[in-house]
Amino acid sequence: MKAFKGVLRIWYLKNRRELPWRETSDPYLIWLSEIILQQTRVDQGLPYWLRFATTFPTITDLANAPEEQIMRMWQGLGYYSRARNLHTAAKQIASDFNHRFPSNYHDIKLLKGVGDYTAAAIASFAFNLPHAVVDGNVYRFLSRLFGIETPIDSTEGKKSFAELAQKLLDEKEPGLHNQAIMEFGALHCKPINPDCENCPFNHNCLALKNQKVNILPIKSKKTKVRDRHFNFVIIDDGRKTIVGKRNAKDIWQGLFQFPLIETKMKRNINTEEVISFVREVSGAKEITLIKKSSLIKHLLSHQTLYCYFWWTNTNTLRKKSISAAYQMINIDLLDTIGMPQLIVKYLLDNEIID
Ligand code: ADE
Repeated sequence: MKAFKGVLRIWYLKNRRELPWRETSDPYLIWLSEIILQQTRVDQGLPYWLRFATTFPTITDLANAPEEQIMRMWQGLGYYSRARNLHTAAKQIASDFNHRFPSNYHDIKLLKGVGDYTAAAIASFAFNLPHAVVDGNVYRFLSRLFGIETPIDSTEGKKSFAELAQKLLDEKEPGLHNQAIMEFGALHCKPINPDCENCPFNHNCLALKNQKVNILPIKSKKTKVRDRHFNFVIIDDGRKTIVGKRNAKDIWQGLFQFPLIETKMKRNINTEEVISFVREVSGAKEITLIKKSSLIKHLLSHQTLYCYFWWTNTNTLRKKSISAAYQMINIDLLDTIGMPQLIVKYLLDNEIID
C-alpha cells in the first residue's frame, strides 16, 4: 500500500498525544518510559515516569540508587521483576558501557529486560534507526488492515508481523513512524468499538471489508489463571509490627508483606489457627484478634488472589523472639517500604497508614 506511510504520518501529526518522553531524544528517559508503559496505560504511567525522571535524572543516578527505593517507587505497577531488571540494566550500563546508554539495536538488546520491541522503540525514538516496532497496538492494526488470521502469539505470527512492520517502515523517519503506528492502534484502531467509519484506512481494510474487525487479532492460547488463597496476619503491639520480604520466585518478589498463611485450597482457617501462627512468628504470649477483613478478591494477570487480613494485637514485640524469616518495623514506617498494592490499600482503608 503505497500511501500507507503518508496517511499514517498525517493522521499522527494531527491526532498525537503530547507526551513528555516524545519531547526528548535522551535514550535513558525513553527507555524508562518504555519499561513503565509495558506495564500500564499512558495516563497511569505518566506520574511514575515523572517521578523516576525527577528522582533519577541520569542513568548513573538510577544505577546508584538502593534497590529498596526503586521497588518502592515502582509500587502499584505490578510485575516487580521489571523494576529489578530496570536496576540491573542501569548497573550494566555503568559497568559495561561506561555510563553511556548504548546507541545501536544490538547493544540496546543486551540490556536486562529489553526485548525486540523495546530495543526497536529506543533505537528508533532516540537514534532514529530503522527498526520497526511491533507491540499489541501494531498487531491489532496490521492484523485488521491486512486481514491476517495467523495467531499473534505463534512463532510464525510473530515472524510474519515483524517482517510486515519492517516492510512498511518509513526509513526516512523511523522514530516518528513507529510512534505513529502505535498511536494509531492505541487511539483509533482500538480493541473495542474502533471508529471504522472515520478511519483513514477504511477503503483498504480487509477486516472491515470481511466483517472481521471484532475477531482480529487472533490469539491461539488462552492465558490460564490460577486461584490462590491468602491469609495475611497483622501482628500489632500498638507501635510495631512484623513483615517479611518475599524472596521466592513468585509474585511480588522483593516486596514486603505481613506474615502469610497460604492454603492450597479454599479453606476457612479459624482464629485459633491464626493465634498459634502469631505465637510461632512473634513469640508473643498475649494475642487477641482485633478484626478479620471480609474476603478481598485481587486480580493479577495470571492469578486470582482470594485474601483475608487478620489484624491481631499482642503484648510488646521483642526482636529476639521473632522468627528468622521476619523483621520488626515501626507501624509509622510501613509507608516507606515497598509493599504490594493490595496490602497498601488495606492499610489505607483501615487508617493504619495515611
Ligand atoms: N506505549 C509504549 N510506548 C509508547 C510511547 N512511546 N508513547 C505512547 N504509548 C506508548
